[in-house]
Amino acid sequence: MIGDYKQLTRHVEATYDELASYYTFFYPFPSEENDRFIEALDSLLSSYNVERILDINCGVGRHIIPLARLGYEVVGADVSEGMLRQARRFAREFGVEGRVKLVKAEWKELPEKVEGEFDAILGLGNPLEHIPPEHRADVLRNVNELLRRGGFLLLSRRNWEWELGLKGDRTLYVRSLRRRMPSPWGERELPFFSPLYGFSVDDKEIITFFTYHNYGETSREHVYHVLEYDLGKGGFNHKSFRLKAFYVFKKALRDDIIASGFKEIRLITSLKRVEYDPYTLNEFWISVK
Ligand SMILES: C[S@@+](CC[C@H](N)C(=O)[O-])C[C@H]1O[C@@H](n2cnc3c(N)ncnc32)[C@H](O)[C@@H]1O
Repeated sequence: MIGDYKQLTRHVEATYDELASYYTFFYPFPSEENDRFIEALDSLLSSYNVERILDINCGVGRHIIPLARLGYEVVGADVSEGMLRQARRFAREFGVEGRVKLVKAEWKELPEKVEGEFDAILGLGNPLEHIPPEHRADVLRNVNELLRRGGFLLLSRRNWEWELGLKGDRTLYVRSLRRRMPSPWGERELPFFSPLYGFSVDDKEIITFFTYHNYGETSREHVYHVLEYDLGKGGFNHKSFRLKAFYVFKKALRDDIIASGFKEIRLITSLKRVEYDPYTLNEFWISVK
């Protein structure tokens, strides 16, 4: 099982290494939307008197870099060197190179690779869907170990109950779009397309979108697509990056968080403290040590 875990996280690492230079076409940074999120995050962190922050999957640094500019002491960890390279580049561009510490660490290695105690730990962008559910409590225990007493973990979660249509009364669009269609190659499951953004970069038009498919018992496939159109030469170039997303169900996550030493959990829909809405695709969990 540990061998499988290593194999899986190596695949995740290799995929993000390749995706790294396209990542901000999916999650624009710098951007006004990111600025608004940081503003809300800043007021949440200030209300808990946070000074020292660890981001366990910092990616290209779209959260820790603006937080460093606001004066927080930040450490960013990530398994992908490709993503960390982009984070180093952004830290230079934002003038905070010396104030952002970046560490290559897989979540099971966090206590060996990261020093000190933190007031807050961030896990944004639905990190736990990258690992099989039976490994979640181990990872959360590592996170708990790095927090000071009274410190908290801010975790984002995709609302799988809703996406999979398990809520009964109001189901999400994906259920109705997940049709099996006859085709010359037999019956196929149609992927669910989620269009994202279009950019013009130099002499290229770039379109990004996600597809979600192969919904199984415990996971589904999540594919990042980049479609480049060369304005000079003409012609499309398509790249795709395939990841498995394990479902993170609410009850199981709550059990894992409690089993990992947290004493209080708060579930919110947005950092602006709007009342919790079970019919929103993404949500945040605040777990206090
Ligand atoms: C969807 S991205 C989110 C990045 C960032 N938090 C954001 O919101 O932009 C997921 C990140 O998690 C990292 N990651 C995935 N599995 C990991 C693991 N087992 N240990 C450490 N990092 C991991 C990936 O390398 C990637 O940078």
